[in-house]
Amino acid sequence: MAYNITLIPGDGIGPEVMEAAKKVIDNSGVKINWEVTDAGAKVINDYGTPLPDYVIDSIKKNRVALKGPVTTPVGKGFRSVNVGLRQALNLYANVRPVKTYAGVPSRYENVDLIIVRENTEDLYAGIEHKVGEEAAESIKIITKKASDRIVEFAFDIAEKQRRNKVTAVHKANIMKLSDGLFLKCAREVANRHKGIEFSDMIVDAMSMRLVQSPENYDVLVMPNLYGDILSDMASGLVGGLGVVPGANIGDNIAVFEAVHGSAPDIAGKNMANPTAAILTGVMMLKYLEEFEAAQRIDSAVAEVLKEGKVVTSDLGGKSTTTEFTEEVISKLK
Ligand code: NAI
Repeated sequence: MAYNITLIPGDGIGPEVMEAAKKVIDNSGVKINWEVTDAGAKVINDYGTPLPDYVIDSIKKNRVALKGPVTTPVGKGFRSVNVGLRQALNLYANVRPVKTYAGVPSRYENVDLIIVRENTEDLYAGIEHKVGEEAAESIKIITKKASDRIVEFAFDIAEKQRRNKVTAVHKANIMKLSDGLFLKCAREVANRHKGIEFSDMIVDAMSMRLVQSPENYDVLVMPNLYGDILSDMASGLVGGLGVVPGANIGDNIAVFEAVHGSAPDIAGKNMANPTAAILTGVMMLKYLEEFEAAQRIDSAVAEVLKEGKVVTSDLGGKSTTTEFTEEVISKLK
């Protein structure tokens, strides 16, 4: 059987790292018909939007997509494709596993976190307006429905992956109503999952603790903005943006994308680290319940990283994106 999957190469380093992920998956034995659909800066001139309807239609049809990063113009212009996709498809959970791989230069050992970020509301709801010419307001939305749903999702991951602890991250001491509601929901959901330890922490303290002792944490669940910031920060604990995968999950629909952006500074130079994109493919294969292929790819990536002979410059090596990819494929057993 072959899966039909939407592939969005994206902007900047997107086409390079997505080609790497596609090639590795195609060599794993899992049969996929890739439906390639372009989104992002490259289609704006032709379609008047970075997120044409055909992209959303393709994902709705196939139910699974592997997506490269797209460039979002800052300050003005078009709305983020990522935020648009997450809202259009109700991909309410953003999941980012942050794990130490042997051989990847980092200050820490034994980091194994899963960051679960609410993906549809908070300050990213997109409700912003000017107040006269010299002020602007962005509205922070927190609902019981979305908070219950994301915390349940985090406990579900903890249970399925036999993890011990869920920590809810918030700023309820200051935003007593909005983050206060998130925290109240988190505590109520935790009460229904007594087998798993639960605690909560204010986002600023959490940032300090993560830098100090990341190995003490397990599954972290939080509203959208904190999740965006802490997951980038957490990727710095395990070797940087080049190695951290991610997924956006809804009910019976999922878009897999690495944490990193389009990295215009290194685009087109065959020097981007495709590890994050390949590991994002591994998450996708697990979602498709292709566990054996997922495990083989994960082990091949781990072996290449551990050897450290064929790695990209962000990890201190001299190899190209293509060389790293070929090395991973050569180790697929
Ligand atoms: P970025 O993640 O693109 O780059 C930050 C730094 O990390 C750069 O120095 C870059 O070279 C490096 N880096 C990122 N990925 C790497 C990789 N795979 N290998 C080696 N080095 C890597 O973040 P930045 O510069 O803030 O954003 C650039 C553009 O990407 C913006 O337009 C932003 O909106 C967009 N973006 C898109 C995302 C998505 O589509 N999922 C996520 C984050 C940003």
